[in-house]
Amino acid sequence: MEKKWWQKEVIYQIYPKSFYDSNNDGIGDIKGITQKLDYLQSLGITMVWICPIYQSPMADNGYDISDYYQLNPEFGEMKDLDELIEKAQEKGIKIVLDLVINHTSDEHPWFQDLLANPETSKYRDYYILKSGKDGQPPTNWRSVFGGSVWEPLKNTDEYYFHSFDIKQPDLNWENKEVREELYEMVNYWLEKGIAGFRVDAITFIKKDQSYDNLPADGVDGLVKCTKKARNQPGIEDFLHELKDETFSKYDCVTIGEAPGVPYEQYSDYIGDNGYFSMIFDFRYADLDVASGSEWFKRVDWDVLGLKKLIFTSQKEIQKAGWGANFLENHDQNRSISKYIKEEENRHFYSATMLGAMFFYLRGTPFIYQGQEIGMTNFERESIEEFDDISSIDQYYRSMKEGFSAEEALRFINLRSRDNSRTPFHWNDKKYGGFSEAKPWLGMNENYKMINAEQQEQDPDSILQFYKEIIQVRQVSEASDCLIYGEIEPILEEHPTIVAYKRKLNNEEVVCYFNFSSECQKVDFDFNNFDVLLNNYKEEKETIFEQTYSLKPYQALVLQKKGASNHE
Ligand code: GLC
Ligand code: CA
Repeated sequence: MEKKWWQKEVIYQIYPKSFYDSNNDGIGDIKGITQKLDYLQSLGITMVWICPIYQSPMADNGYDISDYYQLNPEFGEMKDLDELIEKAQEKGIKIVLDLVINHTSDEHPWFQDLLANPETSKYRDYYILKSGKDGQPPTNWRSVFGGSVWEPLKNTDEYYFHSFDIKQPDLNWENKEVREELYEMVNYWLEKGIAGFRVDAITFIKKDQSYDNLPADGVDGLVKCTKKARNQPGIEDFLHELKDETFSKYDCVTIGEAPGVPYEQYSDYIGDNGYFSMIFDFRYADLDVASGSEWFKRVDWDVLGLKKLIFTSQKEIQKAGWGANFLENHDQNRSISKYIKEEENRHFYSATMLGAMFFYLRGTPFIYQGQEIGMTNFERESIEEFDDISSIDQYYRSMKEGFSAEEALRFINLRSRDNSRTPFHWNDKKYGGFSEAKPWLGMNENYKMINAEQQEQDPDSILQFYKEIIQVRQVSEASDCLIYGEIEPILEEHPTIVAYKRKLNNEEVVCYFNFSSECQKVDFDFNNFDVLLNNYKEEKETIFEQTYSLKPYQALVLQKKGASNHE
C-alpha cells in the first residue's frame, strides 16, 4: 500500500457538548475546545474529530441537522470555528468534522416545507414517502432507535421513512438533486480548510427498493431495518459518486462509519480506490451484545473470543487497505468497564494495557475524550437520569421483551451511550472543572479521583502513560514499523494474553498484553530485544530471564535489536 499522510495521525475524538464549557452555561462549546488545545498538544495527538456542531434541535445531540451551513449557537459562531481551525493548525493539530448525510432533522427547512405543503412541496422527493397498506405502515421494519421506520406524514395517508429517530427523516439518495445539494455542502466545508470528515451512518443511504415485509424478529412484530436499509446492493454507485464529486478533489481524510459491510467488500470501501480512507469495524466493540441495537441480548464473551474478533478484523483490513482503530466513542460504553472483567484496584494497569493494545494494531488510532485518563461507566439509578434516545428505547423494549425493570436498567447501565457522554473530568473541583454551571448531563462522581489535573502532576498516571504510548508510535526508533508495518498475531490460542508482532523489512516489534489479574508465563527469548514500553516499573534485566511472567494487566512492547530503521 502506498503511504498516505493520514496513516501517521493520532486522532482524538471530541464530544463537544461534554468537553469544556467556556461560558458557563453547562454545555461544552467550540471556544472550550480552543482553550484546551494546549492539553491536546501535550497529549501528542495530531488531529481532532469533533462530533456534529451544526444547527440542530439536538434530539440526537447534533446528529439531527437543521442547517448544514450554520453552527448550533450553543456551540458558538462561525468565527469561533475559524479561530479553532487556525489555532489548532499553529499547534500542528488538524480538524475533522462529522458529516451526517443519511438524514436531516425534521426541523430542516426542506422537511418543514414538506410538512407545510405535503402535496405540492418541491421537497417531496427529498425524503422517502410511501402510502400505507390497509391502515398499516408500508413495511414492518424497525428503526435503530425503536418503533417503526415509518411515521405518518400529518394530514396525508403517507408515511416518511427514518432509519433512526422520528426526528431524523432519511434523505432520498435516489434523487439526484438531493445528492447534488449534499455534494455542494461537503465541498463548502472542505474549501474552508478542514482536514476531512468522519462520515456518519453512511451504509444506510441505500434502501432495498422493493420495500417488502420480512418475518418479525421481536415481540413488537417488527424486524431490524438493517436487513433492508443498510449496505444494500447499488450503494456502490452512490459512494463512488460521493467520492468523485467531493473527497477526491481534495487531499482530505475520510473515516467511514460503515457498519454492516461484510469483509469481502472491504476492499471496495478502503482499498486503493476505496470510497474512504479508512472505516471503523465495530465487530469487537459490540462483542458483549447480539447487535449494537439490541442491548438486552447480552453475550457472554472471553478474551479468546475478543482476540479472535480483533485479529480477524486486522487480517481482513490488512488484505483490503487501512483501518480506524478505537476502544471507545460517543456511542459506546467506557472500555475499562467493558473489556476488563475484574477491574478492582487495577485501574492504572488495565487502562494502560488496553490503551497500548489497541494503539499498536495496524491502522490509525482514535482516542475518545476521557479514555486517556481512564474515565469509567456511570451507573444511573433510574431511567429519568438518561438523556440518550436509544437508552430510553432500549429500556422499554427490554421490558416488552419480558425483562424486569431492574434487568432493563442493568442492560442500559452497561451499554448506554450516556456512559461516555458525561462531562470531561478536568480537575477535582465542582463539576470536575468542566463548567461552573450544572452540566447538561449528570457527572460521574469519581471525578474527584479520576481527573486530568491530578494526572498531569502524577508521573505514574494513565495520562502520562498515554503520552508515552503516543510518543512510541509517533517519534521513536520503532515509529515506521509501528505505523506502516504488517501485523501478525502470536500466541493465538492463549486464553488470556493478546500478542502480536509488527514487521517492516528487517524491523520487528513484539507486543504482549495480559488481560488477566494473574501472572502469565511467556516462553520467548527476549535477549535480542529492547524494551520500548512497559506499564510496570521493573529492572530491565528481570525481563530477560529464561521464562518471563507477565504481571496482571501488563503491557510489554519490545523492539528487535540491531535492525535499522531505515528502509
Ligand atoms: C451514528 C452516530 C450516532 C447517531 C447515529 C444517527 O451511529 O455515531 O451517534 O445517533 O449515527 O445519526
Ligand atoms: Ca457553553
